[in-house]
Parts: sequence; C-alpha cells; structure tokens
Amino acid sequence: QKLDMELADIEKGGYDHFMLKEIFEQPTSIYDCLRGRLDANAGSITLSGIEQHADKIINANRIIIIACGTSWHAGLTAEYIIEELCRINVEVEYASEFRYRNPIINEGDVILAISQSGETADTLVAIENAKSKGATILGVVNVVGSSIARASHAGVYTHAGPEIGVASTKAFTAQLTVLTMIALKLAYVKGTLSMHRYRELLKELDSVPEKVAWILNHQKSIKRIAEKYKDAHSFLYLGRGYNFPIALEGALKLKEISYIHAEGYPAAEMKHGPIALVDENLPVVFVATKDTYHEKILSNMQEIKARKGKLIAVVTEGDEVASKLCDDVLVVPEADEIIAPLLNVIPLQLLSYYIGVAKGYDVDKPRNLAKSVTVE
Ligand code: G6P
Repeated sequence: QKLDMELADIEKGGYDHFMLKEIFEQPTSIYDCLRGRLDANAGSITLSGIEQHADKIINANRIIIIACGTSWHAGLTAEYIIEELCRINVEVEYASEFRYRNPIINEGDVILAISQSGETADTLVAIENAKSKGATILGVVNVVGSSIARASHAGVYTHAGPEIGVASTKAFTAQLTVLTMIALKLAYVKGTLSMHRYRELLKELDSVPEKVAWILNHQKSIKRIAEKYKDAHSFLYLGRGYNFPIALEGALKLKEISYIHAEGYPAAEMKHGPIALVDENLPVVFVATKDTYHEKILSNMQEIKARKGKLIAVVTEGDEVASKLCDDVLVVPEADEIIAPLLNVIPLQLLSYYIGVAKGYDVDKPRNLAKSVTVE
C-alpha cells in the first residue's frame, strides 16, 4: 500500500492533487490538441474525420449535439459558436433525455457526440439509436478506441491525455478547442466567414495555450478568495451568450468539488427567479469578459450589487469599470469572444479547487461521483 501511495505521488508530478496537475497541464494539453491540425500562418485546419463528411455536415438539416455532464457544457458552447460561424441549426441534448423520448431523426441529421471517456452509457445508446435511423455520427472523444469512438462514423480525438481527477478540467478545454476548430473548418468550407475573420480567429485560437499559461500565472489571489467564500451555503453563477455555458460549468465544478450548492443561470434570466435568493450572504460569480453583451452584463452586476450580493467576476485585464463593481475579480487576458470561453473557465476551475481543498475534501474523488458512468 505504501508503494501505491508513493507511486500516486510521483504521478501527481509535485502537485497536491491530480485535479490541480490537470488544471496546470492545460497550456500543454490545448497545444497538443491544436498540434498538427491548426496552422495559423498557412490559414489551414486539418481534421480528416470532418473533411470526409464536410458536404453532409454543411448541408445537414441540423446538428444534434449529444453529451452528459461537463461534456454537455462543451456542447452548449459549441451551439453558440457553430450557429454564429457556420449558420447551421444546432440543438444540444442531454443523452439521457434524448434516448428515451423517441426523438425525430432523419437521414439529413448529423449527430455530434461529445465524451471524455467514450464510455458513458447514455451517450453510447443515444448515438446507436440515431445511427440505426440513418443519422451520421461524429464523435469528439478523448479516450482512443473507446466505445463511442468506435460507434461513430468519424470524429476528432481531443488528445488531452489521461484525466484522473473525477471533475473534468483539461478534457473540457480540449473539447472546446476541437469544437472551435470544427466550427472554423465548416465555416471555411461553407464560406460563411470572411477570409479576414477566419484568419483572425485562427490566430486567436493559436494563442490560447499562451493565454492559459498567463492566467495560471496570475491567480495568486484565488486562494484568498476561496478562503473568504468557503463557508457560503450557496453560489449563483451568471453569464450571457458564449459565457452562459461557462457559468453552468463553473457552478458544476463547485458542486462537484466543494459540495456547496451552486446554480448556473443565463444572467438575464435571474430576474425571473434567482434574484429572490440574493442577499448579503450570497456570492454571485459573473463571467463578465468584454464581448457583445458586456454593457448588458454590467447592468446585471449592478442589480446584484444593489441587493447587497457579494460580487465576484471573471473580467478582462484592464477592465476598471467591471472591476470597480466587484468585491473580488478573477482576471483573464483580452481575447475574441469566440475564444473567451476556453480562457474564462480556467479561474473558475481553480476557484472550486481551492474551495474544495479549504474545506478539506478529497477533490480528486468527490463523494458519490464516478469518472465515467457506464450504467444508466
Ligand atoms: C461523469 C463525470 C463528468 C463527465 C460526465 C460525462 O459525470 O464525473 O466529469 O463530464 O460523466 O462523461 P464523458 O466521459 O461522457 O465526458
């Protein structure tokens, strides 16, 4: 047993937990995911699985994204990105709901299954059902040769490497990286983006590993923030547009690791319910980087402040207006709004990690959760 423990320590590479190691691996795992695929200078993206089926995808009636958990949040982000860049209708479904409700599937439908493990039972059965009705199945999977990878007609591996922490971190950012590349590839083939915008986004994506490294080097205050809020009974996470799924993912990470109740919501929906929860004891985390919706989210932040909620926000470096409103800020570098979700999730992963650690929990193996759910 002693030997096992020593082995685990070596595998953690000097980090206290696999989760922290995997969070810090993200500059490398994202780079590995882009390598050999994205060439920002040449203006090209190579994804052979997608290229083989490109005509079918760009002419699809709709793309139905199927996933569970954190992978579902990657799918929801992809809906915003693919619809914006490719003008293809996208729907995002929980695999467990999709498989049981006799969904309408036609031959012109393309299913995009997202799974870290490639073994999630609900996702696997959902795609097998859709396949038997004539849909084309694409997989975005981390584990090479897994059941979902084998059940797909084609796909793209995320190449994040093995993820040991039960709460997904580096697999999520690799999924977002792949999904953004898929969107850019399809937009290129379909001709829905100007050459200038296409090249600009390729460059932005290329710079993500560097920006993630910057974020990881600038979160010195996060431990203190975690200590300050660790005894809260509940958290609210809010975001709009591309950052709405990131609010959901931030809330999920906190629940998984710290056992604190947390709810993610579209920021504008808060007035239809969650705002009733706001008082001086409720921390509200905004994902509020500079994008199309920035003015709107600033006014949502003011509404929380007026009700004395504790304001924490992920903000763009140098954004004094947003920072001044907040009790605490998590700073990220400037980025295009299409790419921003990939960056904005990183401080939220760290915030949950440090709150979980401050509460003394086993963050690598949270109670009641499994790394991969192979039963329904
Ligand atoms: C479990 C894991 C989550 C994961 C979800 C979907 O709930 O604990 O981290 O997001 O399954 O798993 P998959 O392997 O299909 O991405």
